[in-house]
Amino acid sequence: MTQQQTRHRIGILGAGDIFGRYVEGLRTFPELDVVRVADIDTSRAKQAAAEHGIPASGDADELLADDSVGIVVNITPPQFHAETVMAALEAGKHVYVEKPLAATIEEAREVLDAATRGRYLLGSAPDTFLGSAVQTARNALDNGLIGEPVGATAFVRSSRVETRHPDPRAFYGPAGGPVLDMGPYYMAALVNCLGPVAQVSAATRIGAPTRKVTSPERVVDEVTVEVSTHVSATLTFASGVIGTALMSFDVWDTELPRIEIYGTEGTLSLPNPNFFDGDVRLKRHQDQEWQVLAPVTELFGAVGTPEQLRRGLGVRDLAGAIEGGPHRANPAFAFHTLEVLASFETSQQEKRFVALESSCERPASRPSH
Ligand SMILES: NC(=O)c1ccc[n+]([C@@H]2O[C@H](COP(=O)([O-])OP(=O)(O)OC[C@H]3O[C@@H](n4cnc5c(N)ncnc54)[C@H](O)[C@@H]3O)[C@@H](O)[C@H]2O)c1
Repeated sequence: MTQQQTRHRIGILGAGDIFGRYVEGLRTFPELDVVRVADIDTSRAKQAAAEHGIPASGDADELLADDSVGIVVNITPPQFHAETVMAALEAGKHVYVEKPLAATIEEAREVLDAATRGRYLLGSAPDTFLGSAVQTARNALDNGLIGEPVGATAFVRSSRVETRHPDPRAFYGPAGGPVLDMGPYYMAALVNCLGPVAQVSAATRIGAPTRKVTSPERVVDEVTVEVSTHVSATLTFASGVIGTALMSFDVWDTELPRIEIYGTEGTLSLPNPNFFDGDVRLKRHQDQEWQVLAPVTELFGAVGTPEQLRRGLGVRDLAGAIEGGPHRANPAFAFHTLEVLASFETSQQEKRFVALESSCERPASRPSH
């Protein structure tokens, strides 16, 4: 890698669970260089720097004071996003933040306002919609392969986090649950394919009030559920497409697909939007069999390989936007998807359809290889 290729010097804030997956993913791009890691726990930052061969480590203030860092990748927990993102923008850094944009819609609005006012760019996860799967689906739609889209379904049916996570409390706390934990991947895929949502209605509830933790390394035996774990929603997209979403941590067994889009001439079936890649299948009305569409972009983390978990396409998208390219994983898009998801609970509480206040452009499609 030459000095000329490395155009963006990155400091990562937060050296927790997902840190290694970011470092691995970012290193696949020669134009990106991870030069510093910071954590509120500086010993953790130091250890992460040593393990991954990153030259500098320290706390957040040192990161923001490092003039050589142009992009801060913020992978702190959601409750710290608003404060730390705004501090980094204020310090003159471009920022990429993990999902959700902020822990509450009010905080997210403040972050969006700060990003809109300021000179520095903010990117936000989820970025899996930039991967080959959703881009291939988008390309199929744009080329009319299913005719005019009429309806879509999204089924988040993960459960059992307590069987594998040592401390699943956050998944059942106010900023967790299927809607805020997994919903962003599904909503980003749908909005990227179908455009913004105009209104939603939803019914939400808690399933089991407590969950028994059975993971072998558990630090708690039981969690109290404080967030809706079973949600059924109807979404009316601005285009007129009607979406049906089931987002649940209470579905232990099912044969439901992940995402399907139904058009006047056929059906598209998308893979798990938590990954970048995977088979996109098409069945036009006259077809006997489903056909797997050829990916329209390069793969980033092929499903079934160790690379499927790595992250970084969104940071590359931000780097491209800094250079004047399209900014796909932008804050208006992230805010809109979050507002859609947050509106489910509003609809349940107020027993009404909720009209979305925000909207966004459909992000530009990624160029094919
Ligand atoms: N872990 C995953 O599988 C996963 C997957 C997708 C998205 N994410 C997102 O990534 C983000 C981080 O998740 P994680 O699982 O790595 O969290 P984590 O709790 O494992 O790690 C977070 C790290 O941030 C540090 N930190 C906390 N507050 C800080 C502050 N104010 N300044 C600096 N450092 C601070 C903590 O000390 C910790 O080291 C979250 O937004 C989460 O939603 C995580």
